[in-house]
Amino acid sequence: MANSDEAEAARLTEAGRLLFAQPVAFVKGVVNVDGLPPGDRPEFAFAGRSNVGKSSLINALTNRKDLARTSNTPGRTQEINFFALPAQDPDSVYLVDLPGYGYARESKSKVRTWTSLITRYLAGRASLRRVFVLIDSRHGVKANDEEIFTLMDTAAVSYQVVLTKADKPKRDELEAVIAKTEEIIRKHVAAFPQVLVTASRTGAGLEDVRSAVAQLREH
Ligand code: GTP
Ligand code: MG
Repeated sequence: MANSDEAEAARLTEAGRLLFAQPVAFVKGVVNVDGLPPGDRPEFAFAGRSNVGKSSLINALTNRKDLARTSNTPGRTQEINFFALPAQDPDSVYLVDLPGYGYARESKSKVRTWTSLITRYLAGRASLRRVFVLIDSRHGVKANDEEIFTLMDTAAVSYQVVLTKADKPKRDELEAVIAKTEEIIRKHVAAFPQVLVTASRTGAGLEDVRSAVAQLREH
């Protein structure tokens, strides 16, 4: 049993590696739900507070430097950006880079517009196979992350927490954040119980995200 589990995990890791080694293409950027492309293929969205590293993770996963635009300044990504993987393939999946939520330095009306766009997308997109909710491993889960968790619980959208920037905290601090995060998501019905730990800067944990996408794409 243990051996066949290990073989299956190794198979999925390889499937993920192969999927993400293929060319990826920007499809479109969307500023309102009317502009969403048809939900005709499996979709994987990357959500999270501003500046947690959503765009950096998409770049790292796809081995591309500037596919998704990143920045030191929160609020870089202002549209819902769709990427097709593999590019030009009828069996592609969409990787979806979302604007960050909870960014207070923008105008109130802009924050409202983004929040409404993100929540309508997350709660109403039938083709979403999983939402990866990114959490900065130095900061842990915040109140607005839990609001997003609850929104997806209610909408029955499968989501999984991905800790980012794991190269930053000390080992014991990281362990504490992982434990605390696991405790929080136990209370959320639509949360996948396994927390992934990543660092786009070093490549740590990327194979686990790729493998999760490869597995969900098959079903
Ligand atoms: P918004 O689009 O503004 O919501 O931000 P985002 O979540 O897309 O974050 P982005 O990828 O633009 O990264 C924000 C900052 O975090 C940048 O300065 C990145 O270089 C940095 N960053 C991203 N990933 C890592 C990581 O793994 N380690 C470290 N140390 N820094 C990272
Ligand atoms: Mg971004």
